[in-house]
Amino acid sequence: MKEIDRQVRDTIKSIINKRDVAMKAGDASHDDLLGILLDSNYKEIKQKWNSNFGLSIDDVIEECKLFYFAGQGTTGNMLVWTMILLGQHSEWQTRAREEVLDVLGDKKPYIEGLSHLKVMSIIFNEVLRLYPPGILLRRLIHQESKLGKLTLPEGTLVQINALILHHDKDMWGEDVYEFKPQRFSEGVSKVTKGQVVYVPFGGGPRICVGQNFALLEEKMALAMNLQRFSFELSSSYSHAPHGMPTLQPQFGAHLILHKL
Ligand code: HEM
Repeated sequence: MKEIDRQVRDTIKSIINKRDVAMKAGDASHDDLLGILLDSNYKEIKQKWNSNFGLSIDDVIEECKLFYFAGQGTTGNMLVWTMILLGQHSEWQTRAREEVLDVLGDKKPYIEGLSHLKVMSIIFNEVLRLYPPGILLRRLIHQESKLGKLTLPEGTLVQINALILHHDKDMWGEDVYEFKPQRFSEGVSKVTKGQVVYVPFGGGPRICVGQNFALLEEKMALAMNLQRFSFELSSSYSHAPHGMPTLQPQFGAHLILHKL
């Protein structure tokens, strides 16, 4: 573990160092997250004339690790579950494709077009209900706290299991295990009746900062897939959702793609 940690840190550090040298030489690139982060940090330190302000190099490394960890596997696995479910439910795949062709035609996805993909949005809601990539939300209690009638002592680990909430029959009904995107057709709050029982992106002050970005990426990727291919699940697919660390199909997603 220590060796892997050292390798990851060294890799990120060398990327940051290269950017740092370029930035100080006035050759900054601001068009990605690391560029923006370093640029704003550099400005803050310069403004205050003091390197005690701003983020340290270790902070920047941790931010890079967090964004990679929080943003990569989650988004990838969500797309994989979407392809699996649409491979199984061809009627929804057809509806999603019809919408994409209607809105985008064979054009490259563009931002206003993507915001009109309503069928795709309810499909994503249902995919994230059945297979939320982040299963567990955890909080460590740092000082004794009151939560309703409960008193939580310091050191308590509180865990909220999204899978349990998303598969509660009392909340979602007898068809809770079925893939039915139409349950979201009137929006999330209508189906959850305003209760906090649907948490694919967490909730409260630490809700996922990448939520909108992730959904945009998913829409782009799925739209481009649907424009080019139809797909079905292979008979060799073995259904085994596995939660380590993000919820993923343990034996892969065996899909057969047909070029359109
Ligand atoms: C389908 C994709 C994604 C899912 C399902 C997802 C899910 C989540 C969840 C459940 C949390 C809350 C964790 C908690 O409360 O303990 C979270 C936090 C976070 N996510 Fe995402 N995420 C996704 C994509 C992304 C992307 C693309 C990024 C970055 C570009 C990102 C960055 C973050 C960060 C930085 C946090 C921590 C926020 C904080 O603690 O203030 N996520 N995400």
